[in-house]
Amino acid sequence: MSDAVRQWIAAAKHLVVLTGAGMSAESGVPTFRDALAGLWAKFSPEELATEQAFRADPQRVWDWYVSRREAVAAVQPNAGHAALAAFQSRHSGRFALITQNVDGLHQRAGSVHTIALHGALSEDRWLDSARACCTADSIEPGRPPRCSVCGNLRRPSVVWFGEQLPAPELGAAEDAAQHCDLMLVVGTSGVVYPAAGLVLSAHQHNARVVMINPEPTELDRVADACLRQPAAVCLPSLLRA
Ligand code: OAD
Repeated sequence: MSDAVRQWIAAAKHLVVLTGAGMSAESGVPTFRDALAGLWAKFSPEELATEQAFRADPQRVWDWYVSRREAVAAVQPNAGHAALAAFQSRHSGRFALITQNVDGLHQRAGSVHTIALHGALSEDRWLDSARACCTADSIEPGRPPRCSVCGNLRRPSVVWFGEQLPAPELGAAEDAAQHCDLMLVVGTSGVVYPAAGLVLSAHQHNARVVMINPEPTELDRVADACLRQPAAVCLPSLLRA
C-alpha cells in the first residue's frame, strides 16, 4: 500500500497535508483523546479551554497554558515534521500544510506558510476588544498579564471550544482542500469540526485521501488508503527524495 501512496504523491498536482495531535506524539506532546495519556483524559475541556472558563478563573487557565507552553518549548520536532519541511522545500508549488496543532513544531522544523487552524500556543492577545490604551507598552506582567490602564486581560491566542476558527486560515484551508488531488491526513481522530470537514471536502472534490494513524478513525470511511503507522516512521519513508 505504501508503494501506491508514494506513486500518488509523485503524481499529485496539489498535495495537502492535514495534521493533528498525533503528529507531535513522538516528540513527547500528549494528544487530546488518548484514553490514558491524553490531555482530555486528565483535564476537562469545559474547565480549561473555553472563554467562560477563562473569565471564571483566569489564573488557573493561564497557568495551564503556561505549563503547556513550557512543555512544548522543551521538546523537539520529530522526523515526521522534518520530512514535511524538507518535502515542502523541494515541492513548494504543489504543497500546502494545514495543522490543528498549536505547538509550533511544524514551524520550528522549517515548514513555511503553515495554515494554523487553531492558533498558536506561543502567542497571546487581548481578551476583550483592544481599547486605545491597550498597547504592547501597557501590558503589565501577571497571571494573566493585563492592561495597566483598563485591566483588559491577555489570553492565549488559541481557538477555544465554542469559538470560530480564524476566517483567513479557515478560508485558505477550505480552498486548499477543494483544489487538491491528494490529501494526507496525519495523526488526527477526525472528530473536531470544521477541521475534519476539510477531509470530507477533499473527498467530495475527488481527491484521494490517505490516513496515517496507528488507530482507526472516523474519517477512514472516505480514505483510499489507511497506513497504520506512527507519523515519524511513515512520513520520512513516504516523502523521501
Ligand atoms: P486527538 O487527540 O483527538 O487525536 C490524536 C490522533 O492521533 C488519534 O487518532 C491517535 O490514534 C493518533 N496518533 C497517536 N499517536 C500517533 C502517532 N505517533 N502518529 C500518528 N498518529 C498518532 O487529536 P486531534 O485530532 O488533533 O482542538 O484533536 C483535534 C482538536 O481537538 C485539537 O486541535 C484540539 C482538540 O480539542 C483545539 O484545541 C481547538
